Amino acid sequence: MDLAAFVRALPKAELHLHIEGSLEPEMMFALAHRNGVRLPWASVAETRAAYAFTDLQSFLDLYYAGAAVLIHAQDYYDLAFAYFTRAHADGVVHAELFFDPQTHTGRGISIETVLAGLERAGAEAMSRYGISSRLIMCFLRHLSEEEGFATLAQMLPHIGRIHGVGLDSSEKGHPPAKFARLFERCRELRLHVVAHAGEEGPPAYIVEALDLLKAERIDHGVRAADDPALMRRLAHEQVALTVCPLSNVKLCVFDRIEHHNLKQLLDAGLKVTINSDDPAYFGGYIAENYLQSARALGLNAAELKQIARNSLEASFVDAATRAPWLARLDAMSST
Ligand code: HPA
Ligand code: ZN
Repeated sequence: MDLAAFVRALPKAELHLHIEGSLEPEMMFALAHRNGVRLPWASVAETRAAYAFTDLQSFLDLYYAGAAVLIHAQDYYDLAFAYFTRAHADGVVHAELFFDPQTHTGRGISIETVLAGLERAGAEAMSRYGISSRLIMCFLRHLSEEEGFATLAQMLPHIGRIHGVGLDSSEKGHPPAKFARLFERCRELRLHVVAHAGEEGPPAYIVEALDLLKAERIDHGVRAADDPALMRRLAHEQVALTVCPLSNVKLCVFDRIEHHNLKQLLDAGLKVTINSDDPAYFGGYIAENYLQSARALGLNAAELKQIARNSLEASFVDAATRAPWLARLDAMSST
């Protein structure tokens, strides 16, 4: 089996995927046309050409502009079902999807509209492909904690429809500590907790996400490598990092994939997973992230299996659901 086929055959979970970040330019233009929304670009080609980012913020500005074409439940369905179709082709057996309610409610779209479309796609993904999925709502950290509380209040009537909360958007200057009370309330509601930390922000933000938000996984987390004590802690506590190699290169966290520290994190015993973040913007879905990492960093089959295993173990499904996936993974040859 060649490497690409091996990577696709690995049963894996995707744990770091912003559903708004799977909006391909073709669909962006189709939805803009369907909904009468004006985009700042004249064509699909011009849009793709604008995807030359210098940092996280330069991406976010464009990403929020693109999300403006999402209006009706059908749009959210089309977006998410297209993602599940690609994920299935990549060997994803389970996906925990991030969505940003504030990106939509801020434009007058109701939470019900967003949830209805995403849930119908999730149900269809299960019946057509056998992929299970969960929804994790992320708070935009450039907004205030008070605005986060207002969003949580809007979500309360629907709280059983989401599985957890996360924290995303502009990291620098918006430490996890800003949201300590909000996340405490979310934990009281028995929601799972994850947070972006250590993508562009310092290792101290990872420590805050763990200690103040009680994050169960860290999204990105690559800057942990700057703090040896934190590295030892992450290895000891086996906190999963949802690493997104192609994202990190596109947003200039690393200058090229050959310089990514994923293997260094893995070799230090951290529970590393590989994910796609915003695949429509960053040049590849999850299998492409595995494949390019394997080629650039020399990951062998046993290491790729370990990464897939980490993703299944770090997902929020129960042990009985996970068991057949792990059995399939164990049955794969490492040679
Ligand atoms: N970082 C922070 N916020 C985000 C990202 C990311 O990589 N993708 C979408 N929102
Ligand atoms: Zn992300």
